[in-house]
Amino acid sequence: MKEEKIRQLIETAMAQLAYAYAPYSNFRVGAALLATDGTIYTGCNIENAAYSPSNCAERTAFFKAVSEGRRDFAAICVVGGTDGEITSYTPPCGVCRQVMLEFCRPKDFQVILATGVKDYKIYSLEELMPMGFGPGNLAKAGEEDEEI
Ligand code: THU
Repeated sequence: MKEEKIRQLIETAMAQLAYAYAPYSNFRVGAALLATDGTIYTGCNIENAAYSPSNCAERTAFFKAVSEGRRDFAAICVVGGTDGEITSYTPPCGVCRQVMLEFCRPKDFQVILATGVKDYKIYSLEELMPMGFGPGNLAKAGEEDEEI
């Protein structure tokens, strides 16, 4: 991915920290999801007084995109920190990795973790979710190797 696109994703993810609704953990997270057509979908974490209905920034972005008909994705950038102050990388939780596996090719989809525009790491989804259970595992006999 081009340096300029990475920078745009990091800046977009950072801008979402302002919208995070995190009155319980105070840990704000922002995400920028790049679809293969170039569209960027944004997300923030949205917590809830009952705790379990809380939604992560990554899933907010995915669900916005899928609900608008998008299903092909290239990358996601995630940033986060207590009170919105980014001091370390924020890797996606297991549930979000599972949602990524549903819509993305593990070898191709890139997860960008950043603390700022000049400090980031890029992982493939396969690296973050080895041996995941995905749509391919439910394929009919003879279709086992079929990619999503
Ligand atoms: N959170 C995210 O939104 N994404 C992550 O990758 C890690 C965790 C949220 C969930 C919760 O609102 C807060 O961060 C603390 O766990």
